Amino acid sequence: MQLEHRKIVLGICGGIAAYKCPELCRLLQKQGADVYTVVTASGAKLVSTATLQALSGHPVGSEIFTAADNIGHIELCADADCMVIAPATANTIAKLAHGLADNMLTAAALAAPCPLIIAPAMNSRMYRHPATQANLEILKQRGVFIIPPADGPLACGESGIGRMREPAEIAAYICALLNRHGLPFAENTLLPKPDAPRELTAQKLLPTASGAGLRVLITAGPTEEPIDPVRVITNKSSGKMGFALAQAARERGAEVTLIAGPVHLPTPAQVNRINVKTAQDMYDAVKAKLDDVDIVIGCAAVSDYRLAYVYPQKLKKETQGDSLTLTLIKNEDIIAMVGHANPRPFTVGFAAETMAGEAQAKEKLARKNLDLIALNDVSRSDVGFNSDDNALTVFDRDGKIADLPKAPKAVIAAQLTELIFNMVQSSRGTASGNKE
Ligand code: C5P
Repeated sequence: MQLEHRKIVLGICGGIAAYKCPELCRLLQKQGADVYTVVTASGAKLVSTATLQALSGHPVGSEIFTAADNIGHIELCADADCMVIAPATANTIAKLAHGLADNMLTAAALAAPCPLIIAPAMNSRMYRHPATQANLEILKQRGVFIIPPADGPLACGESGIGRMREPAEIAAYICALLNRHGLPFAENTLLPKPDAPRELTAQKLLPTASGAGLRVLITAGPTEEPIDPVRVITNKSSGKMGFALAQAARERGAEVTLIAGPVHLPTPAQVNRINVKTAQDMYDAVKAKLDDVDIVIGCAAVSDYRLAYVYPQKLKKETQGDSLTLTLIKNEDIIAMVGHANPRPFTVGFAAETMAGEAQAKEKLARKNLDLIALNDVSRSDVGFNSDDNALTVFDRDGKIADLPKAPKAVIAAQLTELIFNMVQSSRGTASGNKE
């Protein structure tokens, strides 16, 4: 059970998908959650409040001004772990974006100190309308978690984007969010399981949206350099660190593009993933995005060399004999290209070293013109490549700025992104004369 002792407030707007909410309620309860529901007036026309009340075991919030409901809009979310609005209609999304609180659901959302998750559902044209997109963007920048709608048949008879995600997908998203690793600087590596909902309100809050308004590009994983149609030169990178960074950055409200070498890892929610194979593909993909990002984190273990000649047919030992010489030529250094770009984004590199780490890291930082470099001691067998743990030392141009001791990669990722975002946000504040 992934949601034991969690209180979840389920807000239901007037989209046809509201009929799926009793199932969502059941799925959350199956994981141990205590679910409270709140409906808008039109939501109440589409799903029976009697059903919701019977299922949840709590009165259904609907009218702000009726004491009979016995739940106030302020109290409803005060001790909740999260509020999820599913389906979220264009109308309610607009209200949320602009802070309207004209019904129990929007008032509860405005007063909610917990993370807010919305699952939009509407006709495609309504979804694509610039007004709706602008409102979603406002919410995204504010750190609201948006479960993007799917493409498919819609209630209006048309087909297109706008279908609410299935209850199982929404429930899985909530489980992933609430059980995430990686509260920065938390004593425990995992979010503690609450003993009782009320005691944990402070710890349950998600990290601040320190990445709001920032566009981040992360390279991750190994690259593959073909030798012939069946063989490649690659390295031991698992991609886990880069993927953890992408997730941590997204959780902090940033817009994240992940350029991934060949790895079999699931894409973190709401991260835009671009798959590449060779170092050259990765270089091209980074370059194409460079003008649209504020931060680049080079976490990929890029192959330093590629074959001078790629054999068009499979090499045969029968024809090659006892030895085979391959000529390699140097690949372009991606993060050095980023560091020397003009204008350049805030640039972060990694140094995976087996010896003389600190000197190497500092030399790389200068040569590649980076803002930060994270040193990773890959000679240790307990951290680094393929491990679920990592330990990093972070340097800026003036020297060491942080030691991140051994912890799960998700925790290290949370700490590193927090560090980067705070540096970038404070330099922006300074640049715009925003100092307090
Ligand atoms: O020089 P070295 O490969 O050790 O530097 C590691 C850092 O440079 C990492 O951040 C890695 O992602 C980046 N890198 C790159 N392009 C390359 C080689 C390394 O972006 N061709």
